[in-house]
Amino acid sequence: MWKNVQPAPPDSILGLTDAFRKDQNPEKVNLGVGVYKDEKGNTPILRCVKAAEKELLEIEKTKSYLPISGDPGYAAAVQRLILGENNAVIKDGRAVTVHAPGGTGALRVGGDLIHKFSPEAKLWVSSPTWANHNGIFEAAGFEIKQYGYYNPQTRALDFDLLMADLAKVPAGDVVVLHACCHNPSGVDLQNEQWTEVAALAAKTGWIPFLDFAYQGFGDGVDEDRFAVEQFAAAGIDCYVASSFSKNFGLYNERTGAITVITPSTDEATVAMSHLKTVVRTNYSNPPAHGGLVAALILNSSELRTIWLEELADMRERIKSMRKLLVQGLAAQGVDGDFSFIEAQRGMFSFSGWSDDVVAQLRKEDSIYIVGGGRINLAGLTNSNIEKVCAAVARAMK
Ligand code: LMR
Repeated sequence: MWKNVQPAPPDSILGLTDAFRKDQNPEKVNLGVGVYKDEKGNTPILRCVKAAEKELLEIEKTKSYLPISGDPGYAAAVQRLILGENNAVIKDGRAVTVHAPGGTGALRVGGDLIHKFSPEAKLWVSSPTWANHNGIFEAAGFEIKQYGYYNPQTRALDFDLLMADLAKVPAGDVVVLHACCHNPSGVDLQNEQWTEVAALAAKTGWIPFLDFAYQGFGDGVDEDRFAVEQFAAAGIDCYVASSFSKNFGLYNERTGAITVITPSTDEATVAMSHLKTVVRTNYSNPPAHGGLVAALILNSSELRTIWLEELADMRERIKSMRKLLVQGLAAQGVDGDFSFIEAQRGMFSFSGWSDDVVAQLRKEDSIYIVGGGRINLAGLTNSNIEKVCAAVARAMK
């Protein structure tokens, strides 16, 4: 069967991690995959997670299957987190949530659900977007289209282009939006702009599908949900794929959720019944551990407080690395104004470094960056930042 089949290329992000693991250079630096690293270059288990796991070990009585939609306590905690405690959508029972295996699983379950009932709908992603969006939604059966987002000349959002493109999206098509910390550019919409985009969705009739993988990495857990609140308040169909990989550091526990918001409780009930069918025919029911841990943390005021502190530490460390990188590049005499790096949000920035520069950094200095120049600021530490800046200066000469 495989004799005449060409091998698939390595994944543009996780394939880079494989190459990084194999690299023997003790000074290697991974600025590729979106995984948080602390000042020592480790990806720690959060203290709140350790405490919740300890508690879980004591109280867990069975490893029997979870319901198809996952633990109900987890789903309720996710809704309160992504929509805000007092959101009318929750009170009205207009949102339904299932535990999905990570943000990727959430996107795929949502994609499968929509495609099943709207096979003609096209799906729009920002230009650029997270590389895996294309693969996930193509696999779900969608034709993918792009709307304008990032302007490489200004290194900022092209809001006029975005609005002009989204105004032309037909009713019933799906538009994927990054609720905060745009991946890969780090360039987000301002709050007033989100309000305009939500009004446009309501007017035009396209379906917003929010990828919310970095809640808490922008300005804070409450601040970062602004976009989600706007779409929820619009009274339209809306999808939110959330992930606890980054903000709880639960990467390998595959802890995410897909939330479907509908204009009425009855529609939400119907949506949930079909969500369950999609899950059942795919992976039957979700893994339990990550969801139970996250629910324990979110439902305990003590653990939640620790979590918010730990999340703030991660966010602030990344911000300080943004600052040091801008200073370090200037100190090494690298041509150009890199102040945009400080203005951007979340784990990533588009460095503007060409694929040649990216290739040279990998070859000469074992510095790993995703093609296109996306850098994960969390891979920088006080110990490696000077080396990185010096290497960039050499590569850009
Ligand atoms: C990333 O963009 O690097 C992360 O979301 C990890 C992944 O799965 O690609």
